[in-house]
Amino acid sequence: MTDKKILVSGVKPTGRPHIGNYFGAMKQFVELQDDYKCYIFIADLHALTTVQNQKELEKNTLDVLLDYLAIGLDPKDVVIYKQSDVPQVTELAWIFNCLTTVPYLERAHAYKDAKASGKEANVGLFDYPVLMAADILIQDADVVPVGQDQKQHIEITRDIAEKFNRIFGETFKLPEPLILESVATVQGIDGKKMSKSYGNTIELFATDEDIEKAVMGIVTDSSGEKPENVYAIHALVRDKGELDNLYTEKKGQYKELKEILASDLKKFITPMREKRELLKKDKKAVLDVLKTGGNVAHKCIEKKMDSIRKKVGLKIS
Ligand code: ADP
Ligand code: TRP
Repeated sequence: MTDKKILVSGVKPTGRPHIGNYFGAMKQFVELQDDYKCYIFIADLHALTTVQNQKELEKNTLDVLLDYLAIGLDPKDVVIYKQSDVPQVTELAWIFNCLTTVPYLERAHAYKDAKASGKEANVGLFDYPVLMAADILIQDADVVPVGQDQKQHIEITRDIAEKFNRIFGETFKLPEPLILESVATVQGIDGKKMSKSYGNTIELFATDEDIEKAVMGIVTDSSGEKPENVYAIHALVRDKGELDNLYTEKKGQYKELKEILASDLKKFITPMREKRELLKKDKKAVLDVLKTGGNVAHKCIEKKMDSIRKKVGLKIS
């Protein structure tokens, strides 16, 4: 038995990850893997809310698995699994659905944004936070490392846990979000939040050529003291004290500063990209990680799920 606290988090297989995903969330998974008992999954059921194409979802899922291993998650310590391999999560989400009201979920940002943009949200998107609560609570998570954009989802998770505990008795821990202030919202090359959907990203495993292209495309404003958008991204990969000296020394030389940033990003990305290429060669070994992780997660979760079934009256003893 371990007395380590429990960490749970996941990434949706919806496209290539960017350095915002990495610094905002994924890097914490790696840094905390020795201190916590970690359950890190691929949120394929959440991805279904937007990816409705078999080949694409399969490819994206394998990609996230490779990403996890390439950034340094060690499957000997961390349980790495696919959300859909643990069907108890959807079972629990249904139970939570029956405790959660429609007006309450209508206040969730993702649904509000979809509605504001004139889209007809599918039921999965509306219910997204409830499934996420099930992911987290079924594992008895103490902490959930995420970027700022997921904060509301953790608050909803805590509300659902409290409500369940009130009705059926103490069952779930209230998890804390782990959001690092300096990287809570990493900005993109246009200065707005870096996001797969805004086309303003620097991919985590980008080629040298793509890094150069993205960096040269960073929007700069010549009226300021320093190119803030270049500096903000640079601060992710280089010490701030060093950077301040560099930006003072190279004041006004925006092109050169961008070249230095591109070179620093290459130094940071290249080893991970190369590791990923190596891992990719042994698909069977990589898929085995998922199989083992799925079995372990399934077993851990079943015990808790069974006690929940009993509490709500679904299991007659
Ligand atoms: P995206 O928002 O790009 O579609 P995901 O939803 O897959 O990315 O997010 C994966 C993780 O990365 C989440 O914990 C999320 O909060 C975090 N994240 C996403 N974008 C950023 C950002 N720009 N800065 C910091 N963290 C981010
Ligand atoms: N909603 C998260 C995202 O968009 C992915 C996710 C699903 C998640 N379930 C989770 C993150 C549970 C942390 C814990 O990135």
